[in-house]
Amino acid sequence: MHFTITGGTPLKGSISVNGAKNSALAIISAAALAAEGATYLENVPLYTDILDLCEILRALGAEVTFVDRRVLKIDAKNLTNHVAPYEKARKLRGSTYIVGLLLARLGRAEVAMPGGCDIGARPIDFHLRGFEALGAKAWVEHGSILAEARSGLSGTNLFIDRASFGATINLMIASSLARGTTYLENAAREPEIVDLANFLTGLGATVRGAGTSTIRIEGAKRLHGGRHEIIPDRLEAGTYLMAGLASGGEVAVKGVIPEHLATVCAKLEEAGAALEISADAIQLKAPARVRAVDVQTQPHPGFPTDLHPPLVAALARADGISLVQETVFENRFHYVNELARMGANVRVDRDTAIVRGQERLSGAPVEAPDIRGGAALVIAGLAAEGRTVVGGLQYVERGYEDLEGKLSQLGADVSRDGEATASEVSL
Ligand code: EPU
Repeated sequence: MHFTITGGTPLKGSISVNGAKNSALAIISAAALAAEGATYLENVPLYTDILDLCEILRALGAEVTFVDRRVLKIDAKNLTNHVAPYEKARKLRGSTYIVGLLLARLGRAEVAMPGGCDIGARPIDFHLRGFEALGAKAWVEHGSILAEARSGLSGTNLFIDRASFGATINLMIASSLARGTTYLENAAREPEIVDLANFLTGLGATVRGAGTSTIRIEGAKRLHGGRHEIIPDRLEAGTYLMAGLASGGEVAVKGVIPEHLATVCAKLEEAGAALEISADAIQLKAPARVRAVDVQTQPHPGFPTDLHPPLVAALARADGISLVQETVFENRFHYVNELARMGANVRVDRDTAIVRGQERLSGAPVEAPDIRGGAALVIAGLAAEGRTVVGGLQYVERGYEDLEGKLSQLGADVSRDGEATASEVSL
Protein backbone atom coordinates (compact mmCIF):
# COMPACT_ATOMS: atom_id res chain seq x y z
CA MET A 1 0.00 0.00 0.00
CA HIS A 2 1.36 3.40 -0.89
CA PHE A 3 0.51 7.01 -1.63
CA THR A 4 1.65 8.66 -4.82
CA ILE A 5 1.97 12.41 -4.41
CA THR A 6 2.87 14.98 -7.00
CA GLY A 7 4.06 17.88 -4.90
CA GLY A 8 4.48 21.58 -5.38
CA THR A 9 0.83 22.70 -5.15
CA PRO A 10 0.00 24.92 -2.16
CA LEU A 11 -2.89 23.33 -0.23
CA LYS A 12 -6.04 25.44 -0.16
CA GLY A 13 -9.39 24.86 1.52
CA SER A 14 -10.80 23.38 4.68
CA ILE A 15 -11.20 19.96 6.26
CA SER A 16 -12.90 18.64 9.40
CA VAL A 17 -11.01 16.51 11.88
CA ASN A 18 -12.00 13.13 13.34
CA GLY A 19 -12.38 12.08 16.94
CA ALA A 20 -9.07 11.69 18.78
CA LYS A 21 -7.43 8.28 18.40
CA ASN A 22 -5.72 8.29 21.76
CA SER A 23 -8.91 9.36 23.51
CA ALA A 24 -10.97 6.73 21.70
CA LEU A 25 -8.54 3.93 22.63
CA ALA A 26 -8.85 4.88 26.31
CA ILE A 27 -12.60 5.43 26.30
CA ILE A 28 -13.47 2.27 24.35
CA SER A 29 -11.46 0.27 26.91
CA ALA A 30 -13.09 2.12 29.81
CA ALA A 31 -16.59 1.60 28.36
CA ALA A 32 -16.24 -2.09 29.14
CA LEU A 33 -16.02 -1.21 32.87
CA ALA A 34 -19.80 -0.83 32.79
CA ALA A 35 -21.48 -4.05 33.81
CA GLU A 36 -24.98 -2.62 33.42
CA GLY A 37 -26.33 -1.02 30.27
CA ALA A 38 -24.78 -0.20 26.95
CA THR A 39 -22.48 2.69 26.15
CA TYR A 40 -22.73 4.68 22.94
CA LEU A 41 -19.60 6.45 21.76
CA GLU A 42 -19.92 9.12 19.08
CA ASN A 43 -17.26 10.53 16.80
CA VAL A 44 -15.19 7.32 16.92
CA PRO A 45 -12.39 7.50 14.34
CA LEU A 46 -12.09 4.50 12.02
CA TYR A 47 -8.38 3.81 12.41
CA THR A 48 -6.98 0.29 12.32
CA ASP A 49 -5.83 0.51 15.98
CA ILE A 50 -9.42 1.27 17.01
CA LEU A 51 -10.84 -1.66 15.05
CA ASP A 52 -8.23 -4.00 16.56
CA LEU A 53 -9.17 -2.86 20.06
CA CYS A 54 -12.85 -3.56 19.28
CA GLU A 55 -11.85 -7.09 18.21
CA ILE A 56 -10.06 -7.64 21.51
CA LEU A 57 -13.13 -6.55 23.51
CA ARG A 58 -15.33 -8.88 21.49
CA ALA A 59 -13.00 -11.78 22.23
CA LEU A 60 -13.38 -10.97 25.96
CA GLY A 61 -17.16 -11.33 25.71
CA ALA A 62 -18.31 -7.73 25.11
CA GLU A 63 -20.76 -6.87 22.35
CA VAL A 64 -19.14 -4.19 20.24
CA THR A 65 -20.93 -2.90 17.14
CA PHE A 66 -20.94 0.19 14.98
CA VAL A 67 -24.60 1.22 15.04
CA ASP A 68 -23.88 4.13 12.75
CA ARG A 69 -20.82 5.21 10.81
CA ARG A 70 -18.98 6.70 13.78
CA VAL A 71 -21.18 5.53 16.64
CA LEU A 72 -19.91 2.55 18.54
CA LYS A 73 -22.15 0.59 20.92
CA ILE A 74 -20.40 -1.36 23.66
CA ASP A 75 -22.29 -3.70 25.96
CA ALA A 76 -19.92 -5.45 28.33
CA LYS A 77 -22.32 -7.20 30.72
CA ASN A 78 -21.01 -10.56 29.47
CA LEU A 79 -17.33 -9.68 29.75
CA THR A 80 -16.09 -12.89 31.35
CA ASN A 81 -12.87 -13.87 29.57
CA HIS A 82 -9.68 -12.52 31.15
CA VAL A 83 -7.32 -13.58 28.34
CA ALA A 84 -6.94 -11.18 25.41
CA PRO A 85 -6.10 -12.70 22.01
CA TYR A 86 -2.30 -12.54 21.87
CA GLU A 87 -1.78 -11.63 18.22
CA LYS A 88 -4.28 -8.76 18.32
CA ALA A 89 -3.13 -7.35 21.64
CA ARG A 90 0.55 -7.37 20.75
CA LYS A 91 -0.08 -5.10 17.75
CA LEU A 92 -1.11 -1.95 19.53
CA ARG A 93 -0.07 0.14 22.50
CA GLY A 94 -3.65 0.81 23.57
CA SER A 95 -4.10 -2.86 24.50
CA THR A 96 -2.36 -2.18 27.84
CA TYR A 97 -5.60 -0.49 28.96
CA ILE A 98 -7.22 -3.91 28.76
CA VAL A 99 -5.10 -4.92 31.76
CA GLY A 100 -6.54 -2.08 33.85
CA LEU A 101 -10.03 -2.92 32.64
CA LEU A 102 -9.80 -6.66 33.34
CA LEU A 103 -8.22 -6.17 36.74
CA ALA A 104 -11.04 -3.83 37.71
CA ARG A 105 -13.84 -5.96 36.25
CA LEU A 106 -12.65 -9.54 36.72
CA GLY A 107 -9.71 -9.36 39.13
CA ARG A 108 -7.32 -10.96 36.67
CA ALA A 109 -5.83 -10.32 33.27
CA GLU A 110 -3.60 -11.86 30.67
CA VAL A 111 -2.71 -9.50 27.83
CA ALA A 112 0.21 -9.65 25.39
CA MET A 113 2.96 -7.09 25.88
CA PRO A 114 1.90 -4.19 23.67
CA GLY A 115 3.36 -3.20 20.33
CA GLY A 116 2.72 0.18 18.77
CA CYS A 117 5.10 2.53 17.02
CA ASP A 118 8.82 1.82 17.22
CA ILE A 119 9.83 5.16 18.71
CA GLY A 120 11.84 4.06 21.73
CA ALA A 121 11.92 1.35 24.39
CA ARG A 122 8.42 2.16 25.71
CA PRO A 123 8.49 0.11 28.93
CA ILE A 124 5.33 -0.47 31.01
CA ASP A 125 6.90 -0.36 34.47
CA PHE A 126 4.78 2.60 35.63
CA HIS A 127 1.62 0.69 34.74
CA LEU A 128 2.73 -2.44 36.60
CA ARG A 129 3.91 -0.51 39.66
CA GLY A 130 0.59 1.31 39.72
CA PHE A 131 -1.40 -1.94 39.64
CA GLU A 132 0.74 -3.31 42.47
CA ALA A 133 0.11 -0.19 44.53
CA LEU A 134 -3.63 -0.76 44.00
CA GLY A 135 -3.19 -4.20 45.56
CA ALA A 136 -2.71 -6.40 42.49
CA LYS A 137 0.14 -8.68 41.56
CA ALA A 138 1.41 -7.83 38.10
CA TRP A 139 4.28 -9.37 36.14
CA VAL A 140 5.44 -10.28 32.66
CA GLU A 141 5.71 -13.92 31.60
CA HIS A 142 6.02 -15.59 28.18
CA GLY A 143 5.39 -12.35 26.35
CA SER A 144 2.25 -11.40 28.27
CA ILE A 145 1.34 -9.10 31.11
CA LEU A 146 -0.27 -11.16 33.87
CA ALA A 147 -2.13 -9.48 36.69
CA GLU A 148 -4.24 -10.67 39.58
CA ALA A 149 -6.27 -9.01 42.31
CA ARG A 150 -8.54 -11.82 43.50
CA SER A 151 -10.08 -9.74 46.26
CA GLY A 152 -10.34 -6.57 44.19
CA LEU A 153 -8.33 -3.34 44.00
CA SER A 154 -8.03 -0.78 46.80
CA GLY A 155 -7.60 2.95 46.36
CA THR A 156 -4.23 4.42 47.28
CA ASN A 157 -1.85 7.35 46.73
CA LEU A 158 0.19 6.83 43.60
CA PHE A 159 3.09 8.84 42.25
CA ILE A 160 3.74 8.27 38.54
CA ASP A 161 7.50 8.68 37.95
CA ARG A 162 7.04 10.56 34.68
CA ALA A 163 3.80 12.15 33.54
CA SER A 164 3.08 9.12 31.35
CA PHE A 165 -0.04 9.40 29.23
CA GLY A 166 -0.69 5.66 29.05
CA ALA A 167 -0.01 4.95 32.72
CA THR A 168 -2.34 7.77 33.80
CA ILE A 169 -5.14 6.38 31.60
CA ASN A 170 -4.60 2.81 32.74
CA LEU A 171 -4.58 3.69 36.43
CA MET A 172 -7.69 5.84 36.05
CA ILE A 173 -9.45 2.88 34.45
CA ALA A 174 -8.27 0.39 37.10
CA SER A 175 -9.04 2.62 40.09
CA SER A 176 -12.54 3.57 38.98
CA LEU A 177 -13.86 0.25 40.34
CA ALA A 178 -11.41 0.09 43.28
CA ARG A 179 -12.53 0.27 46.91
CA GLY A 180 -11.95 3.79 48.25
CA THR A 181 -10.14 6.78 46.83
CA THR A 182 -7.07 6.87 44.59
CA TYR A 183 -4.86 9.93 44.13
CA LEU A 184 -2.72 9.93 41.00
CA GLU A 185 0.17 12.35 41.50
CA ASN A 186 2.31 13.64 38.60
CA ALA A 187 -0.50 12.56 36.30
CA ALA A 188 -0.40 13.41 32.59
CA ARG A 189 -2.50 16.46 31.66
CA GLU A 190 -3.42 15.81 28.02
CA PRO A 191 -6.93 16.76 26.84
CA GLU A 192 -7.60 13.05 26.23
CA ILE A 193 -7.14 12.45 29.98
CA VAL A 194 -9.84 15.04 30.67
CA ASP A 195 -12.04 13.37 28.04
CA LEU A 196 -11.68 10.02 29.82
CA ALA A 197 -12.46 11.65 33.19
CA ASN A 198 -15.65 13.20 31.77
CA PHE A 199 -16.62 9.87 30.27
CA LEU A 200 -16.06 7.95 33.53
CA THR A 201 -18.07 10.57 35.41
CA GLY A 202 -20.93 9.97 32.96
CA LEU A 203 -20.84 6.26 33.84
CA GLY A 204 -21.21 7.03 37.55
CA ALA A 205 -17.59 7.33 38.73
CA THR A 206 -16.25 10.34 40.62
CA VAL A 207 -13.11 11.74 39.00
CA ARG A 208 -11.72 15.15 39.93
CA GLY A 209 -8.66 17.12 38.90
CA ALA A 210 -8.13 15.69 35.40
CA GLY A 211 -6.09 18.21 33.42
CA THR A 212 -3.98 18.97 36.49
CA SER A 213 -1.12 16.89 37.93
CA THR A 214 -3.30 15.40 40.68
CA ILE A 215 -6.31 13.30 39.82
CA ARG A 216 -8.63 11.94 42.49
CA ILE A 217 -10.76 8.92 41.66
CA GLU A 218 -13.39 7.58 44.01
CA GLY A 219 -14.02 4.00 43.05
CA ALA A 220 -17.61 3.01 42.31
CA LYS A 221 -19.18 -0.37 43.13
CA ARG A 222 -20.58 -0.64 39.63
CA LEU A 223 -20.63 1.58 36.58
CA HIS A 224 -23.51 1.90 34.16
CA GLY A 225 -23.73 2.63 30.43
CA GLY A 226 -23.92 6.10 28.94
CA ARG A 227 -23.34 8.25 25.90
CA HIS A 228 -20.25 10.27 25.07
CA GLU A 229 -18.74 12.15 22.17
CA ILE A 230 -14.99 11.72 21.67
CA ILE A 231 -13.07 15.03 21.52
CA PRO A 232 -11.54 16.18 18.22
CA ASP A 233 -8.12 14.87 17.25
CA ARG A 234 -5.68 17.69 17.97
CA LEU A 235 -2.85 15.65 16.43
CA GLU A 236 -4.71 15.17 13.15
CA ALA A 237 -5.53 18.89 13.14
CA GLY A 238 -1.88 19.76 13.80
CA THR A 239 -0.77 17.50 10.97
CA TYR A 240 -2.96 19.32 8.41
CA LEU A 241 -1.78 22.69 9.72
CA MET A 242 1.83 21.56 9.21
CA ALA A 243 0.91 20.37 5.70
CA GLY A 244 -0.54 23.82 4.99
CA LEU A 245 2.62 25.47 6.29
CA ALA A 246 4.99 23.19 4.36
CA SER A 247 3.13 23.56 1.06
CA GLY A 248 2.89 27.35 1.30
CA GLY A 249 -0.89 27.11 1.40
CA GLU A 250 -4.02 28.38 3.13
CA VAL A 251 -5.71 25.69 5.19
CA ALA A 252 -8.56 25.74 7.70
CA VAL A 253 -9.10 22.86 10.13
CA LYS A 254 -12.64 22.73 11.45
CA GLY A 255 -14.31 21.01 14.37
CA VAL A 256 -11.27 21.45 16.64
CA ILE A 257 -10.83 22.77 20.16
CA PRO A 258 -8.19 25.46 19.51
CA GLU A 259 -7.11 25.57 23.19
CA HIS A 260 -5.78 22.02 22.77
CA LEU A 261 -3.38 23.33 20.14
CA ALA A 262 -2.20 26.50 21.88
CA THR A 263 1.51 25.60 21.87
CA VAL A 264 1.34 24.33 18.30
CA CYS A 265 -0.31 27.57 17.18
CA ALA A 266 2.38 29.62 18.94
CA LYS A 267 5.10 27.73 17.04
CA LEU A 268 3.26 28.01 13.73
CA GLU A 269 3.11 31.78 14.21
CA GLU A 270 6.79 31.90 15.13
CA ALA A 271 7.47 30.05 11.86
CA GLY A 272 5.76 32.89 10.03
CA ALA A 273 2.20 31.56 9.61
CA ALA A 274 -0.75 33.94 9.98
CA LEU A 275 -3.50 32.29 12.02
CA GLU A 276 -7.15 33.09 12.49
CA ILE A 277 -8.60 31.24 15.43
CA SER A 278 -12.32 30.99 16.12
CA ALA A 279 -14.31 28.92 18.63
CA ASP A 280 -13.92 25.67 16.70
CA ALA A 281 -11.59 26.29 13.76
CA ILE A 282 -8.02 27.33 13.02
CA GLN A 283 -7.19 28.92 9.71
CA LEU A 284 -3.57 29.13 8.60
CA LYS A 285 -1.94 31.20 5.87
CA ALA A 286 1.62 30.16 5.22
CA PRO A 287 4.38 32.75 4.77
CA ALA A 288 6.29 33.07 1.47
CA ARG A 289 9.09 31.13 3.18
CA VAL A 290 8.87 29.31 6.52
CA ARG A 291 11.11 30.77 9.25
CA ALA A 292 13.36 28.43 11.24
CA VAL A 293 12.20 27.78 14.83
CA ASP A 294 13.55 25.88 17.82
CA VAL A 295 11.20 23.46 19.55
CA GLN A 296 11.40 21.07 22.48
CA THR A 297 8.74 18.37 22.78
CA GLN A 298 7.11 18.05 26.21
CA PRO A 299 4.08 16.36 27.75
CA HIS A 300 0.95 18.52 27.45
CA PRO A 301 0.68 21.53 27.55
CA GLY A 302 4.11 21.54 25.87
CA PHE A 303 4.71 20.95 22.17
CA PRO A 304 3.40 17.40 21.46
CA THR A 305 5.95 14.73 20.56
CA ASP A 306 3.50 13.40 17.95
CA LEU A 307 3.80 16.60 15.95
CA HIS A 308 7.60 16.68 15.99
CA PRO A 309 8.03 14.70 12.71
CA PRO A 310 5.38 16.72 10.80
CA LEU A 311 7.01 19.93 12.07
CA VAL A 312 10.47 18.83 10.93
CA ALA A 313 9.02 18.10 7.47
CA ALA A 314 7.71 21.68 7.33
CA LEU A 315 11.03 23.09 8.58
CA ALA A 316 13.01 21.16 5.97
CA ARG A 317 12.44 24.08 3.56
CA ALA A 318 12.69 26.87 6.14
CA ASP A 319 14.98 29.84 5.93
CA GLY A 320 17.67 28.99 8.49
CA ILE A 321 18.56 26.27 10.96
CA SER A 322 15.97 24.82 13.35
CA LEU A 323 16.65 22.68 16.41
CA VAL A 324 13.93 20.19 17.33
CA GLN A 325 14.62 18.41 20.61
CA GLU A 326 12.66 15.23 21.36
CA THR A 327 12.40 14.74 25.12
CA VAL A 328 9.52 12.24 25.36
CA PHE A 329 10.65 9.24 23.27
CA GLU A 330 14.27 8.29 22.79
CA ASN A 331 14.07 7.31 19.14
CA ARG A 332 11.48 9.11 17.14
CA PHE A 333 13.90 9.85 14.31
CA HIS A 334 13.48 6.88 11.95
CA TYR A 335 11.82 9.14 9.37
CA VAL A 336 14.92 11.35 9.07
CA ASN A 337 16.82 9.05 6.70
CA GLU A 338 13.78 8.89 4.44
CA LEU A 339 13.46 12.71 4.44
CA ALA A 340 17.10 12.84 3.35
CA ARG A 341 16.14 10.98 0.15
CA MET A 342 14.06 14.01 -0.72
CA GLY A 343 16.98 16.37 -0.24
CA ALA A 344 16.25 17.41 3.35
CA ASN A 345 19.31 18.24 5.42
CA VAL A 346 18.56 16.92 8.91
CA ARG A 347 21.25 15.69 11.26
CA VAL A 348 20.33 13.97 14.51
CA ASP A 349 22.60 14.72 17.45
CA ARG A 350 21.46 12.62 20.43
CA ASP A 351 17.90 13.82 21.10
CA THR A 352 17.93 16.79 18.72
CA ALA A 353 17.22 17.11 15.01
CA ILE A 354 19.30 19.88 13.45
CA VAL A 355 17.32 20.96 10.42
CA ARG A 356 19.13 23.07 7.82
CA GLY A 357 16.37 24.47 5.65
CA GLN A 358 16.75 23.93 1.90
CA GLU A 359 15.34 25.99 -0.97
CA ARG A 360 13.73 22.91 -2.47
CA LEU A 361 12.95 19.25 -1.84
CA SER A 362 12.57 16.71 -4.62
CA GLY A 363 10.13 13.79 -4.73
CA ALA A 364 11.45 10.27 -4.04
CA PRO A 365 10.26 6.78 -3.11
CA VAL A 366 10.22 6.61 0.71
CA GLU A 367 8.93 4.26 3.42
CA ALA A 368 6.84 5.32 6.45
CA PRO A 369 8.46 4.01 9.65
CA ASP A 370 5.55 4.80 12.04
CA ILE A 371 2.35 6.87 12.20
CA ARG A 372 3.75 10.36 12.62
CA GLY A 373 6.97 9.69 10.72
CA GLY A 374 4.75 8.58 7.83
CA ALA A 375 2.72 11.79 8.10
CA ALA A 376 6.00 13.76 7.93
CA LEU A 377 6.94 12.03 4.66
CA VAL A 378 3.53 12.79 3.17
CA ILE A 379 3.94 16.45 4.15
CA ALA A 380 7.42 16.58 2.64
CA GLY A 381 6.02 14.97 -0.52
CA LEU A 382 3.41 17.73 -0.79
CA ALA A 383 6.14 20.35 -0.48
CA ALA A 384 8.59 18.63 -2.85
CA GLU A 385 8.95 19.04 -6.59
CA GLY A 386 7.91 16.00 -8.60
CA ARG A 387 6.63 12.61 -7.57
CA THR A 388 6.90 11.01 -4.12
CA VAL A 389 5.78 7.49 -3.36
CA VAL A 390 5.21 6.85 0.36
CA GLY A 391 5.10 3.15 1.26
CA GLY A 392 4.24 1.60 4.61
CA LEU A 393 0.72 3.03 4.78
CA GLN A 394 -0.29 0.33 7.26
CA TYR A 395 1.54 2.47 9.85
CA VAL A 396 0.04 5.77 8.74
CA GLU A 397 -3.49 4.35 8.76
CA ARG A 398 -3.19 3.46 12.41
CA GLY A 399 -3.63 7.18 13.10
CA TYR A 400 -5.08 8.84 9.99
CA GLU A 401 -8.27 8.09 8.14
CA ASP A 402 -8.83 8.96 4.49
CA LEU A 403 -5.68 11.04 4.40
CA GLU A 404 -5.69 11.02 0.60
CA GLY A 405 -9.37 12.11 0.50
CA LYS A 406 -8.78 15.01 2.87
CA LEU A 407 -5.59 16.12 1.11
CA SER A 408 -7.37 15.93 -2.27
CA GLN A 409 -10.11 18.11 -0.78
CA LEU A 410 -7.32 20.64 -0.13
CA GLY A 411 -6.25 20.43 -3.77
CA ALA A 412 -3.32 18.01 -3.40
CA ASP A 413 -2.46 15.62 -6.20
CA VAL A 414 -2.42 12.39 -4.20
CA SER A 415 -3.68 8.88 -4.81
CA ARG A 416 -3.62 5.69 -2.81
CA ASP A 417 -2.88 2.26 -4.19
CA GLY A 418 -3.41 -0.96 -2.32
CA GLU A 419 -5.94 -2.78 -0.19
CA ALA A 420 -9.13 -1.28 1.26
CA THR A 421 -8.65 1.09 4.19
CA ALA A 422 -10.00 0.55 7.71
CA SER A 423 -12.73 3.11 7.12
CA GLU A 424 -13.88 1.29 3.98
CA VAL A 425 -14.21 -2.08 5.71
CA SER A 426 -15.49 -1.09 9.13
CA LEU A 427 -19.27 -1.19 8.67
N1 EPU B 1 7.42 5.32 30.04
C1 EPU B 1 8.12 4.51 30.90
N2 EPU B 1 7.43 3.56 31.61
C2 EPU B 1 6.09 3.41 31.48
C3 EPU B 1 5.35 4.22 30.61
C4 EPU B 1 6.06 5.18 29.88
O1 EPU B 1 9.33 4.63 31.03
O2 EPU B 1 5.52 2.52 32.16
C5 EPU B 1 8.14 6.34 29.26
C6 EPU B 1 8.08 6.08 27.75
O3 EPU B 1 9.08 5.17 27.35
C7 EPU B 1 8.25 7.45 27.17
C8 EPU B 1 7.58 8.34 28.22
O4 EPU B 1 7.50 7.58 29.41
O5 EPU B 1 9.61 7.78 27.08
C9 EPU B 1 6.19 8.82 27.85
O6 EPU B 1 5.38 7.74 27.42
P1 EPU B 1 3.80 7.76 27.58
O7 EPU B 1 3.43 6.69 28.53
O8 EPU B 1 3.37 9.15 27.88
O9 EPU B 1 3.30 7.39 26.11
P2 EPU B 1 2.33 6.21 25.66
O10 EPU B 1 1.16 6.14 26.56
O11 EPU B 1 3.12 5.00 25.40
C10 EPU B 1 0.79 7.72 24.21
C11 EPU B 1 0.28 7.70 22.80
C12 EPU B 1 1.40 8.10 21.85
C13 EPU B 1 1.91 9.46 22.25
C14 EPU B 1 2.34 9.47 23.72
C15 EPU B 1 2.77 10.82 24.24
C16 EPU B 1 -1.44 5.98 22.75
C17 EPU B 1 -1.84 4.64 22.34
N3 EPU B 1 -0.19 6.36 22.46
O12 EPU B 1 1.83 6.75 24.27
O13 EPU B 1 0.80 8.18 20.57
O14 EPU B 1 3.02 9.80 21.44
O15 EPU B 1 1.25 9.01 24.54
O16 EPU B 1 1.73 11.72 24.15
O17 EPU B 1 -2.22 6.73 23.30
C18 EPU B 1 0.76 8.27 18.23
O18 EPU B 1 -0.42 8.63 18.33
O19 EPU B 1 1.39 8.31 17.13
C19 EPU B 1 1.47 7.83 19.43
C20 EPU B 1 2.64 7.19 19.39
